[in-house]
Amino acid sequence: MIKDFVNLRDFSGEQLVALLDRAAADKQRFTEGPLPDDLDRQVLAMIFEKPSLRTRVSFEAAMTHLGGHAIYLTRDDIGLGSREPIRDVARVLGRMCDGLVARTFSHESVEELARHSPVPVINALTDLSHPCQAMADVMTVREHFGSLQGRKVAYVGDGNNVARSLAVACAKLGMCFTAASPAGYRLDDEFVESVREIAGPACCLTTDDPAEAVAGADAVYTDTWVSMGQEEEKARRVRDFDGFQVNKLLMAAAPDQAIVLHCLPAYRDCEITDGVFEAHAETIFAQAENRLHFQRTLIHALLTDGGGE
Ligand code: CP
Ligand code: NVA
Repeated sequence: MIKDFVNLRDFSGEQLVALLDRAAADKQRFTEGPLPDDLDRQVLAMIFEKPSLRTRVSFEAAMTHLGGHAIYLTRDDIGLGSREPIRDVARVLGRMCDGLVARTFSHESVEELARHSPVPVINALTDLSHPCQAMADVMTVREHFGSLQGRKVAYVGDGNNVARSLAVACAKLGMCFTAASPAGYRLDDEFVESVREIAGPACCLTTDDPAEAVAGADAVYTDTWVSMGQEEEKARRVRDFDGFQVNKLLMAAAPDQAIVLHCLPAYRDCEITDGVFEAHAETIFAQAENRLHFQRTLIHALLTDGGGE
């Protein structure tokens, strides 16, 4: 049984495919009418130390769609780790709620919640990773191309939480991930090596040349240069990422049929131009919508049958 959804590495490729299949089927059923109230009277506590639009709304909407309820708790509301220890928060919420969602700065905070919570804990983004995002991303790639095996994802930008989870998801699902980042912002060697151990050296490549990364790509992906918590570094980062923008010139180096993905929020004329963003807006917002579809299936699986084991 899988209790938590904290690290993609804990799941096999087969388990991730099973979740994707189930999310696709649930999404189809949802277009045909209301889903059954399988989480009737169940409660999801959502702890957010950082802002959120997509993650918060998708989890809250998902609980409503399944007949349950979600409670939004900010850091100031509960003082995670300051008003009381994380392990006590986990034990209290675990006695009152049926699942926990947590977006924290430190990844260790979500790990600690999971260790001490008797109910499932879902990682809603940490400084280290963003697994729910990566699963909505690959769901979008699969919807567009019909398959994942052998698909190439080119990530252009910061070697951050989004990049790390996407790299692991790609490796688990038989895809090839290439990250193009400037010096100082690359995925670290130890991480890259650990991803290569999942599916071989070709599943995770790095370069400092964005044009080289996007050549042959099925999907070109970017994220903000300034993640939540890095606001004070903005001026330096914007300078350092010069040349790593997803723009018309870079897209000319990608195949014509390549899609563009962005986890959002997008900062126009930083990591992506308005022109490229709007040309690919349909896919990017379908990707955002898939946060809802994947996470609704995820909470259903975790809260009802331990992830479908
Ligand atoms: N992509 C994403 O996680 O968006 P939010 O920060 O708005 O939740
Ligand atoms: N890397 C970004 C992702 C936002 C969804 C951040 O951590 O702020």
